[in-house]
Amino acid sequence: MGKVSERATAIKYAIRDLVVAANEVKKGGKEIIHLNIGDPLQYDFETPEYFKRYLVEAVVEKNINSYAPSEGLPMLREAIAWREKEYWGVNVDPENIIVTTGVSEAVQMLAFSFGAGNILLPGPGYPSYSGYFTLTGHEIREYPLLSDENWIPDVDAIARLSDKDTLAVVLINPNNPTGGVAPPSVVEEIGEIAQEKDFLIVSDEIYDLITFDNAQMISTQKVVGTDAPIITFNGISKTMLATGWRLGWMIASDGVIRHSEYKRVWEAIQKESRVRLSANAPVQYATAKALYEKYPHIEEFNKKLKERRDFFVKRLNELEQIECSPPPGAFYVFPKIVDERYKDDQKFVLELLRETGVLFVFGSGFGKYGKSHFRSVLLPPIDQLEKTIELVENFFANN
Ligand SMILES: Cc1ncc(COP(=O)(O)O)c(C=O)c1O
Repeated sequence: MGKVSERATAIKYAIRDLVVAANEVKKGGKEIIHLNIGDPLQYDFETPEYFKRYLVEAVVEKNINSYAPSEGLPMLREAIAWREKEYWGVNVDPENIIVTTGVSEAVQMLAFSFGAGNILLPGPGYPSYSGYFTLTGHEIREYPLLSDENWIPDVDAIARLSDKDTLAVVLINPNNPTGGVAPPSVVEEIGEIAQEKDFLIVSDEIYDLITFDNAQMISTQKVVGTDAPIITFNGISKTMLATGWRLGWMIASDGVIRHSEYKRVWEAIQKESRVRLSANAPVQYATAKALYEKYPHIEEFNKKLKERRDFFVKRLNELEQIECSPPPGAFYVFPKIVDERYKDDQKFVLELLRETGVLFVFGSGFGKYGKSHFRSVLLPPIDQLEKTIELVENFFANN
């Protein structure tokens, strides 16, 4: 018997695994253009000043430097409940919120809380889910997002793939890596299937306020109703521009608490929250204060992202090897490689990296439905996006 966990060894996280290859290229003297990580702070965006001040206030003036309660500071749980009401008109009991070290920890806790069964994940989808559910040994079933319809979930596939052993369907809305937004009618249909077949909906809404062109983003608890078992994930990384502060939360609907099985799942998550003590206390204070300010930075952020998106999508479509639709949400593009010669997305991304220093993430790193695509962030300023396009253009011309 080996000494290593084979499940842990099987974890893949292309977004960061690629950094190893990039470091090799860097050692060879090439400048790397990082377009792989969804972190606005690595470009020309900053954590809002008022948010930073609240963190200083927490640490220096309020002296909030000890452990917090495991489920979160009461003031933050109240602020999160207020936010859900304010933005989505959803009534949340602060008691049904657990504060985590980022949504990443929420995914981890969820995975460890389930018994045996299968999980439906969006394909393409954010690989934290497949990573943790691989670790816990759950069966993963990917349901496709429809590429021809701007990546909306294939509801028929969810119906087909789910059965009596389905524990949950995960909805990432807006989606990473595609930027797709599921219209309310689609979310409603997913809700109907989940109710009929009696499984949980997990709705990752970490990009909820980052949408463009009147995208129809709406919270799942709002559309499906809080009587259904739904756990919503959100946090400060993206919309509050604070990736490094590591704070997120999970919100259980009334339907979770009333359900004989999912209530126990939630109680298991509460226990997990205790065993890891607490999330970062001063950041919880700062977030509680900042949420009531109602994201004064978000309009400017979205405006810049939209300009960058429009520019990048237009320039990408000028390359005959690539097709790209404008994403309605989040800050990624997920173009299709239409030239047969470059269809092996992993090979394409690695060769492009070695030759030009441009670092995208290969589409199959987001599951089998990501094949023949790649993901780029659209966070850098326009001159860097233009430079990227020129390098990609040269690559195609020389290969
Ligand atoms: C859909 C989605 N969920 C969760 C995360 C991780 O969030 P956090 O920084 O809160 O751990 C990301 C980060 O890229 C994401 O795209």
